[in-house]
Amino acid sequence: MRNVTIENVTDLVIGSLGQHEPIPERQREIMTALIRHLHGFCKDVNLTHAEFMQACDYLGRAGALCSHKRQEFILLADILGVEVLVDMLSNPVQGNATISTVLGPFFRENAPVMPKGASTVQKAFEGQETVYVEGYVRDTEGNPIPDAIVDVWEDAPNGLYENHDPEQPDYNLRGRFETDRNGHYAFRAIRPVPYPIPGDETAGELIRYMGHHCMRPDHIHMMVNREGYRPLISQIYDSSSEYLDNDSVFAVKEELIGEFRKAPEGADTDLVLRFDFVLPRQEASGRVAAE
Ligand code: BEZ
Ligand code: FE
Repeated sequence: MRNVTIENVTDLVIGSLGQHEPIPERQREIMTALIRHLHGFCKDVNLTHAEFMQACDYLGRAGALCSHKRQEFILLADILGVEVLVDMLSNPVQGNATISTVLGPFFRENAPVMPKGASTVQKAFEGQETVYVEGYVRDTEGNPIPDAIVDVWEDAPNGLYENHDPEQPDYNLRGRFETDRNGHYAFRAIRPVPYPIPGDETAGELIRYMGHHCMRPDHIHMMVNREGYRPLISQIYDSSSEYLDNDSVFAVKEELIGEFRKAPEGADTDLVLRFDFVLPRQEASGRVAAE
């Protein structure tokens, strides 16, 4: 190993894998591809040492921003389309099952469990539009799935999620709702608004380096879980959003676009949104079943 060259360095590093201690096969597969792609990237762009140092500084600053409130690397992966790619690889499309999309960095566990039809709104904003959201959770044969948990979260009319806004009550616009014996769920909420992903620090630097923008289309996050079925992490997009075709994180799918319609006369919300979910049985789901 005394004569490292541009030509042999990649094979030398790959050859070192497991040389001192055995490593699991999956680890070898991941590291082999990582080394090949990373070396290939450096060669493709003829990376200079100054650019390499800039990248190290950048990653160091991104890491320093991470805390239980902020996961900067998820944001960077989102901006590069990596989270949506990993989601599609992990949750292959399965027949008529509802399609998934990115979780994003704003999910919080343990949202309050609420009765069917309750409102997630703890603080009213001027100009907000209220919405009654409802639908059915079914299996791929159309049978209802009772006792499924529909976990929802969304931004406030100021474009901020509750945990990034000291002015909002804890868990505002978040809640968990159980389906009834017909697989029906319902809750009251507000119409989401488009918002910029946090662009103040390293995520913003990356977006600007790419000449892209920070905006996400208006959406409500919905996660559906029921034992025995493939868990679903998804988002429902407002069909009137101006960002459906230029989402900063590439997460929009046609099947996830919903209609916020005017509520019927006498209703207690301004709008209604109907969205049904289809979950495949866990045994039958893609990779899990194949393994
Ligand atoms: C979100 O939908 O909450 C989100 C997803 C990816 C990056 C930033 C936000
Ligand atoms: Fe979001």
